[in-house]
Amino acid sequence: MGMTGERAPICEMLTAYAGSRRTAFHVPGHKQRAAWHVGNADERYQPLLEWDVTELDDTDDLHHPTGPIAEAQRLAAECFGADETRLLVGGSTAGNLAMILGTAEPGELLIVQRNAHRSIFHGLMLASARAVLLPPEIDRESGLGVIPNVQAVAKALARYPEARGVVLSSPNYYGMAGRLRPISEVCHAAGVPLLVDEAHGPHFGFHPDLPPSAMQEGADLSVQSAHKMLSALTMGAMLHMRGTIVNREAVRQALRMVQSSSPSFPLLASLDLARRQLHVEGSKAFEPALEAVRRVKEGLPDTRFRSVGPRNDSGSGVGDGFRYDPLKLVLHDAEGRLDGFRIRDGLSARGCEAEMADARYVVLAFGIGSRPEDGDALIEALRDLSADSGRSDRTPERPRPMAMDGGTADIPEPVQFRRDRGGRSESVPLERSVGRTAAEWIIPYPPGIPELYPGEKINEAILYRLAEWKKQGANIQGAEDPSLRSVRVFLAD
Ligand SMILES: Cc1ncc(COP(=O)(O)O)c(C=O)c1O
Repeated sequence: MGMTGERAPICEMLTAYAGSRRTAFHVPGHKQRAAWHVGNADERYQPLLEWDVTELDDTDDLHHPTGPIAEAQRLAAECFGADETRLLVGGSTAGNLAMILGTAEPGELLIVQRNAHRSIFHGLMLASARAVLLPPEIDRESGLGVIPNVQAVAKALARYPEARGVVLSSPNYYGMAGRLRPISEVCHAAGVPLLVDEAHGPHFGFHPDLPPSAMQEGADLSVQSAHKMLSALTMGAMLHMRGTIVNREAVRQALRMVQSSSPSFPLLASLDLARRQLHVEGSKAFEPALEAVRRVKEGLPDTRFRSVGPRNDSGSGVGDGFRYDPLKLVLHDAEGRLDGFRIRDGLSARGCEAEMADARYVVLAFGIGSRPEDGDALIEALRDLSADSGRSDRTPERPRPMAMDGGTADIPEPVQFRRDRGGRSESVPLERSVGRTAAEWIIPYPPGIPELYPGEKINEAILYRLAEWKKQGANIQGAEDPSLRSVRVFLAD
């Protein structure tokens, strides 16, 4: 029998290794000694460097684990309800790339939700896969896109029986989680795996107020950013695998291709500790964060700001076809005077940094490290902002949804992805681009969901959303003209 969940095998190995005081004639070059003589950088880094070792006989190898890493991965699989878990040092980005590369050969088809993170699109490009991009269903209350509905997935699978899998992203950036169980059943009836980018949901299933995880809902593969909501270091993530439909060795091989051959041990140790915390503390680990959210929600009626989703309790709440993550607080100005970006700036000026903003909403992300008093700080800032921003004479209006439309629309034709789309292109003013085919990416960041990908036909709805992002001065990545006055389109239209 292996170790039990109270243990943290990678941390134990690193502690023992640091204690053994051997002289290092191996990488890394710092030899576990801080050598930065700037300010107090040496003091700050010294504790980290002791664990920053390389792959040796006793430290193990992430790509062929047989020792503490293998044990840590086994304990993680047990904890997260998987048959096999791989620790990731390249974020969910690495997991998403491997998930797609391990599932689709060049030219093979995947059914993919359109409002996916760019790492999913990059995976499709690297794999030279074809994809049917299904629009998500739109939540009526918030106007936000969640996942495609089960009927759309079933229809797509019936129309494209050659599909190798279905790729969804749940929860979305706003903490809205689709109901995955019916979709995993439809996938399995068709003999294909359900692959879920669950980057924002590594805490799911660990408290009765939290939605269930993709693994619990029958997914075959899921990718989680443990650094986003749990206590792992940034870039720490996990890929979980269940069942026999997925070719696990193909996924492992893809991970070897996309991840460093010198993975960071402090990062791996942080994943080990994040898993151990869930094992030892269970649902109690989330009580302080849930209490912080409760305090904000209690105070919201004194302000102009309202939250999306259930208002009167701390629970995850249930929308039409989805559930809310109670640790994501999505606020808007009920009087419509401040858009999401201005609320974000107002909060920042009052010492509270939000996770993301768009034309309507600001997203406040709580996590396993949040404390009840964080909620007090936020509600105080919101009260102050509410009082201070009352002078605006902008007409209150309910903005049109920023999400992609669809849900039950017709199943789109497949798109062939490739790394280089080639073809001659030109730059045209944004307002004259409708009907043309995009030759570049346009990605507001965050959330990092492409509004436009090379090869996509520009329609009125896309133009409206791009104009909105432009108006709000969002941070646009991928575009030749980030001010979005112009967009690059193919000549041969
Ligand atoms: C939905 C989604 N998937 C994947 C990622 C990539 O995660 P990571 O930053 O851990 O690489 C993100 C990052 O924000 C995301 O929002």
